[in-house]
Amino acid sequence: MYRVDRNNFYKHEKKATIFTPEYVSEFLYDVLSPQITPRDGIILDPCVGKGSLLKPWKRNGYRVMGIDIEDQGFPQTKVKNYLEVHQGEINDKIAPIIMNQPFNIDGKTKDYIKAHYGGRPLLPEVWFAKAVELFGSHVPIAMFTPYGFRLNQTATSKRWVKFLLAEYPPITSIVSLPKDVFANILFHSEVLLFNLPALHGHYFVTHPAHEHERAATPQRTPACA
Ligand SMILES: C[S@@+](CC[C@H](N)C(=O)[O-])C[C@H]1O[C@@H](n2cnc3c(N)ncnc32)[C@H](O)[C@@H]1O
Repeated sequence: MYRVDRNNFYKHEKKATIFTPEYVSEFLYDVLSPQITPRDGIILDPCVGKGSLLKPWKRNGYRVMGIDIEDQGFPQTKVKNYLEVHQGEINDKIAPIIMNQPFNIDGKTKDYIKAHYGGRPLLPEVWFAKAVELFGSHVPIAMFTPYGFRLNQTATSKRWVKFLLAEYPPITSIVSLPKDVFANILFHSEVLLFNLPALHGHYFVTHPAHEHERAATPQRTPACA
């Protein structure tokens, strides 16, 4: 049985500003980019930080846009609380949204979330619901999340029902991450892909430690189950 209590995220929480390692950003680019041309739209990260997730796209000629509540130096950053972006405020065509949002409520957004979503919701769902509200349920999304986003629900859980009723788009792939993917914490997370049906159902992210072994394999494609 999977033992969440053996992880150490209670002692070392995944804070709001733990950035995505470069190898994961590059892996996601390798998996997603064959399905997306620069003409499909702007690649949006609504909590961009230093821009780790957007860098490979930018380097390869895609147009990118970042939003962050705090300017952390990424040049295309719109400094704003993403949850306060209104429908119609971003008129550009967006494809896809890539986000590693904070998993824990931090001071910056706490009051806003309490007022608009009540209680203590699962933060990735708040970011996800906002993406669907702003850009519709067909927009491709890559979202980091704890396993609990798609598991650990009852038959009447609101999230479960939203998936059943297609209010939320279908999960088309899962990218498994090692639980030591983020610096200094052990945390059960993965990347869920939505509205990208041409991809494999499941991938294991490639860690640089295994690159040399994989380079020796005849076809260097992302590993999938
Ligand atoms: C976990 S970091 C991820 C940064 C980057 N996307 C990456 O993957 O490396 C989350 C980012 O969300 C930003 N953030 C927190 N609350 C936000 C909000 N309400 N609106 C926009 N950005 C927010 C933080 O400032 C931080 O840079």
